[in-house]
Amino acid sequence: MPSYSSPISEGRTKPLIAVTGAAGYVGLNTCYKLLQAGYDIVTVDNYSTGREDGLNQLRKLQEELHLPGKIVMMVKMDISENKNKLRNLFKDTRPDTVIHLAAKIVVEQSDKERTMYYRNNIIGTKNVIRAMRIANVKNCIFSSTAAVYGGQPKNGLSFQEDDVVDKNMASNYYALTKMYDEDSLRKWQEEYSTNLIINRFFNLAGAGGPNKEFGYNVWPPTHLMPSAVAAAMGLLSGFEYKCPMGLNTRDGSTIRDYVHVEDIADALVTEVGYLGKRNGVGASEIINLGSGEGQTTKEIVGSAAELISGDFPMTKGKVRPNESPSLVANITKANALLGWNPKHSLTDMIMDLQIWFGGETFKDL
Ligand SMILES: NC(=O)c1ccc[n+]([C@@H]2O[C@H](COP(=O)([O-])OP(=O)(O)OC[C@H]3O[C@@H](n4cnc5c(N)ncnc54)[C@H](O)[C@@H]3O)[C@@H](O)[C@H]2O)c1
Repeated sequence: MPSYSSPISEGRTKPLIAVTGAAGYVGLNTCYKLLQAGYDIVTVDNYSTGREDGLNQLRKLQEELHLPGKIVMMVKMDISENKNKLRNLFKDTRPDTVIHLAAKIVVEQSDKERTMYYRNNIIGTKNVIRAMRIANVKNCIFSSTAAVYGGQPKNGLSFQEDDVVDKNMASNYYALTKMYDEDSLRKWQEEYSTNLIINRFFNLAGAGGPNKEFGYNVWPPTHLMPSAVAAAMGLLSGFEYKCPMGLNTRDGSTIRDYVHVEDIADALVTEVGYLGKRNGVGASEIINLGSGEGQTTKEIVGSAAELISGDFPMTKGKVRPNESPSLVANITKANALLGWNPKHSLTDMIMDLQIWFGGETFKDL
């Protein structure tokens, strides 16, 4: 029985966690860790970028490894289009906690296809909130992004949770959708005295699962580290990385904070236990989840090339308007509140991505 002391919904002996976006990169890794920790789960996904097959792999692992939790139900649903179906699902299953991960997440695409991002991220989250309110769900864990921070950190080094988040400074439409989502969720928490954790993830990398079968699932990759690893492995023929240059950083390229997806999944499972112990006392927390360290784009490309013994050209790319030169997490709060610290190194992230890109699951994508 997982660590959880709040009253569990009637008729059950252990908590049930509903996970939206469960078939995605973070979702599959989180569901695997939830099952390992003994939680039962209901998954919700429209499989637009996620892998239904990944959830079937999880079901198999659950049996083969005798994991103590189980997948009670796998529901294919678009959360932006099926608000009543979502409400009915929450009313029927009465999840003790909702982990809301479903979203569209590609920055460049978000600026071009605003309507799609508005529907998926803003309307989708409003529908999740409505369903939680009607079904009287008490706990929610949300995945926001470091991209909500703009400008310079107050302390000049790394972003803290109370640093300025200003919609007028949003560097892209994706970040703006997450700012609106954060506001809507906080309003729900205040009005209904529920429990809310808003996580601001920094840059995720690596792969998880017993054989690293839960990896980054966008092809061709749109994020830096998977692009660098795939290119160094020779999987992206003719690939050339356009690196934004001329910024005020140690080598002129952007500095970002990279964290292993398994460390993120561990944090989310710890948060389920944390909220489960609140026992009716409202909590509203914003938590940065990153490594606490920054690497430049050039350093990431160099590390991937060196560790994988492959190389590819890098040329000068444009700096986006409102681009933050440096986005590094201050992770003091995650440590103080949850006892969480990332366990994986940059080398682990690169090597695990290499295993993922060389593995059977990736070949079948
Ligand atoms: N990957 C990162 O580096 C990163 C960084 C910061 C924040 N995040 C946040 O973490 C969360 C998970 O991201 P990810 O990397 O796993 O992305 P992902 O694309 O792999 O997963 C998103 C999942 O949501 C599903 N989905 C999307 N729209 C949906 C809808 N309307 N209805 C139902 N399901 C829908 C997709 O099919 C997919 O399975 C997102 O909210 C994202 O904003 C990710």
